[in-house]
Amino acid sequence: APEPATLVIFGATGDLARRKLLPAVFGLWQDGLLGSAFNIVGVGRQEMTDAQFKDYAIEALKTSKETDAPHPGSLEKFRELLYYEFGDFGADDVYEKVKTQLDEAEEAHGGRKNALFYLSTPPSLFEPISNGLGRLGLQDQSEGWRRIIIEKPFGTDLASARHLNATIHTVWDEAQVYRIDHYLGKETVQNLMAIRFGNAIFEPLWNRAYVDHIQITNAEDLGLEGRAGYYEEAGVVRDMLQNHLMQVVALTAMEPPAAFDADAIRDEKVKALRAIKRIPIERVSEVAVRGQYGPGTLDGEHVPGYREEPNVQPGSVTPTYVAVKYEIDNWRWQGVPFYVRSGKRLPKKVTEIAVVFKRPPLGLFPGGLERNVLAFRIQPDEGVSLKFSSKTPGQENQLREVVMDFRYDAFGAQLESPYSRLLLDAMVGDATLFPREDEVDQAWQIVSGILEAWDATSPNAVPAPEFPNYDAGTWGPDAADKLLGPDRRWRRL
Ligand code: BG6
Repeated sequence: APEPATLVIFGATGDLARRKLLPAVFGLWQDGLLGSAFNIVGVGRQEMTDAQFKDYAIEALKTSKETDAPHPGSLEKFRELLYYEFGDFGADDVYEKVKTQLDEAEEAHGGRKNALFYLSTPPSLFEPISNGLGRLGLQDQSEGWRRIIIEKPFGTDLASARHLNATIHTVWDEAQVYRIDHYLGKETVQNLMAIRFGNAIFEPLWNRAYVDHIQITNAEDLGLEGRAGYYEEAGVVRDMLQNHLMQVVALTAMEPPAAFDADAIRDEKVKALRAIKRIPIERVSEVAVRGQYGPGTLDGEHVPGYREEPNVQPGSVTPTYVAVKYEIDNWRWQGVPFYVRSGKRLPKKVTEIAVVFKRPPLGLFPGGLERNVLAFRIQPDEGVSLKFSSKTPGQENQLREVVMDFRYDAFGAQLESPYSRLLLDAMVGDATLFPREDEVDQAWQIVSGILEAWDATSPNAVPAPEFPNYDAGTWGPDAADKLLGPDRRWRRL
């Protein structure tokens, strides 16, 4: 269990805190995982009393789908752990109040002033808050550990991410910084490492001698969900590709680490990311496809196109779909493309990594030249499946593809929310599942060419194709199919 500590949530009345963080903290606390001495200070710009914040938080827990069923009386006890402070994040006053809270918690916490600061705010506030905490010396670890969690998006391009890293490092050591990517908190994303490096049968095949290509798909049926203010600026490349999907690529491509610890693992991920061939702006149109959804039908219902969503510019060229072919210049992956796609308003929600093997060298049987596929289903229906060919019963030596399936529900346990896992890791000081500064930097480098070509405001922007170019409820623009060439196709999911 972690040592006694205070969790300070900046942006405590925001959407993320309400929907994900508070339920995750409550679940951990109720299960006894946060230790006996623990409290939460919500911080916001909005004026509120402690009592009002307590009401707000309990209401959030009651309405979030992610909240575990409360044990009798536990909501009332949790309520007592909550405090609230407000103020202008650019001035000192609010940090002084936070400091007083930590001083007051000291006695109950056995003389320690451990604190985890969670920046669950719009990204424009990351720097002012980090600086404000620094002005009051709240990063100082002489009276207890101090750590800071920073939400995504971490910068909006390479230059701003570097600036943010540099600013944060004027106050914090890298070892105190936890950049959160909730995909790394997903059980099945972690299982990718466990399966690769905990078994003898997969790793020998995991290379250019046997693998034809890798396909990573992240499909969402959801549309904009009222987030135009953020998404119009971000688009799918910043929202998904630079962070969640690059992390998945790194875990798929990396070499076995020397040890299962934060630095050994992150060293290998960075090495893999470094080997990904950069896409210069003039090659973007050959290896990347963008899309934006138009109106369409999903689950039998008509849904509006992206440009019809509230607060989206009528002529917006923000991409909601990306498909890209990456090449990795190292011994393991030379000549094995990684195809990555992500989109909103696709027919369903599914995230998977598929390792597609080479065809058998000789077609002895009719129908027997299919490629075997090992697929990691990240969500939903979490599991791993292996597709191979089998003889169909009867006189003829006819082959057909069959599937061997492992489903997570075989464990009978419910998968914990990624936020619970990551929060607890940060409380105990385990940074393994948090991207390090150099990883974030590499990931921005990898998407830079695409951003430069596609951002309407970029001086080198390439005119967008006719948008919208896919209907909501379909699998994205046709051009994405051509990206794979004549002999490969996207998996039907
Ligand atoms: C978030 C993105 O980081 O991840 C969202 O901002 C996206 O646009 C979400 O919908 C997807 O997460 P998950 O866990 O539902 O796959």
